[in-house]
Amino acid sequence: MRRIESGKVLSNHKLAEGVYRMDISLPEISSEVQGPGQFISLTVGEGWQMPLRRPMSIASVENGSVSIIYKIFGKGTEWLKDRYEGDVIEAIGPLGNIFSLDNINIKETILIGGGVGVAPILYLHEQLSKDVLDHLLIVGAVTAAEHFLEHTPNAGIYLTTDDGTVGEKGTVMTLLEVLVDKLENPYIIACGPEPMLAAIHNYSTEKNIPGQIAVESYMACGTGLCQGCIIQTSKNGSIEHSYHKRYSLVCCDGPVYNIDAIRI
Ligand SMILES: Cc1cc2nc3c(=O)[nH]c(=O)nc-3n(C[C@H](O)[C@H](O)[C@H](O)COP(=O)(O)OP(=O)(O)OC[C@H]3O[C@@H](n4cnc5c(N)ncnc54)[C@H](O)[C@@H]3O)c2cc1C
Ligand code: FES
Repeated sequence: MRRIESGKVLSNHKLAEGVYRMDISLPEISSEVQGPGQFISLTVGEGWQMPLRRPMSIASVENGSVSIIYKIFGKGTEWLKDRYEGDVIEAIGPLGNIFSLDNINIKETILIGGGVGVAPILYLHEQLSKDVLDHLLIVGAVTAAEHFLEHTPNAGIYLTTDDGTVGEKGTVMTLLEVLVDKLENPYIIACGPEPMLAAIHNYSTEKNIPGQIAVESYMACGTGLCQGCIIQTSKNGSIEHSYHKRYSLVCCDGPVYNIDAIRI
């Protein structure tokens, strides 16, 4: 069940260039979290300065606290960066659905996170690692300063950078194609900026590789009221010409979708 809760900031620190992690004490919300993919929506600013809450994926849940990993993007995330231990933040959540691991061979699964989409992927990675479930992880960024993990291919963790300053040079797509070729029945789980998701969507559709994508659409209410977070659905390429069948609300039906269920 979704709740509104005010909680104290337990820590807020820099992980990499422009990337921060905040742990917030939210016992009620954390007790309702079902798993990776879900998000919370945070009130930012004072008064009516920034009326829309900012959606942030849950990066981890532990002992009554919820962690987020956020990238400085604009005024709201700048405000988050300037919160200190003991400051109080209001959140609504947990919102949205989770990645489904039913009928998936985890050993053949490639997790891909890029930019602001790294949080739910790391949450899933953490859970699979706890259960000692082998899988592959690709995390992409523009340059080394934006990364906070280590490039450790022996452990199945691959970093990519556009400028080649750490890990494999290129986008996550370059490495994805290499890893897919080594697997018999690859499965993709991804979250990241829209151009990255569009590239993964095209690739997996073309190669007929199944998977799931967590979409980070622009959002206003986060609770199904404003209809501001729609994504176009697709059923084997044919579109039903009814508003509700043609579009899905990312905040309620998503953010996680089977790759073949949506158009990007
Ligand atoms: C389900 C979901 C999960 C997300 N998880 C994360 C996360 O884990 N880490 C992270 O860094 N970011 C995440 N984002 C994106 C994050 O919400 C935006 O970067 C953030 O709202 C930008 O706010 P701002 O005030 O700094 O930027 P501004 O540009 O000042 O924001 C202006 C408005 O645009 C909206 N907006 C701007 N960019 C985005 C965007 N990319 N997606 C959605 N709304 C946007 C804001 O909510 C705000 O209403 C997520 C978005 C969604 C929808
Ligand atoms: S954000 Fe308002 S309906 Fe989804």
